[in-house]
Amino acid sequence: VMGAREAARAAASLDELKAILDGFEGCALKRTASRLVFADGNPAAKVMFVGEAPGRDEDQQGLPFVGRSGKLLDLMLASIGLDRTSAYIANVIPWRPPGNRTPTPQETAVCLPFIARQIELADPDILVCLGGPSAQALLGTTEGITRLRGRFMDYDTGTRTIRAIATFHPAYLLRTPLGKRFAWRDMLAVEALLAGKGGG
Ligand code: URA
Repeated sequence: VMGAREAARAAASLDELKAILDGFEGCALKRTASRLVFADGNPAAKVMFVGEAPGRDEDQQGLPFVGRSGKLLDLMLASIGLDRTSAYIANVIPWRPPGNRTPTPQETAVCLPFIARQIELADPDILVCLGGPSAQALLGTTEGITRLRGRFMDYDTGTRTIRAIATFHPAYLLRTPLGKRFAWRDMLAVEALLAGKGGG
């Protein structure tokens, strides 16, 4: 079996990457998940949102952020005039962990080359990491989300630098509604950067 890094590199398009992931046997989560949850939205969008891992609803439908968290993500998008035609949405982990348990560091490490390639191929102007695990995996830091959120950082694809920002995960906001004021502020920062780039 090809390693994750080689397999991800072999994909020349998002469609190819999806097909390669679907056939990839190197991650145990695939065996317990119902299906691959690759992406939703518009891959040509200027902004890409990346969550942690699919939950039950996502596993059933094969699309990211379609459950309760997804409804809140849709409101976050709408707060700056975005929807799933103007945003691209994926997760660090494309298979549901059993019982929604936290992905292990090893599972995250195996999946990381695929989401990195997905970001590189989608080539957004802005990457929004939803929640600590996504931000930590993608930005290579152990800093907590409360400290990470709300400021622009650089995400390096290897060929290009993309502006990245982290904000609270919608599932966290459902439990902690007082965090919404910060998440909405972060969305405004995304909107401002998009406007500065003549988009959104
Ligand atoms: N939470 C995530 O991180 N991703 C989803 O797709 C759904 C819930």
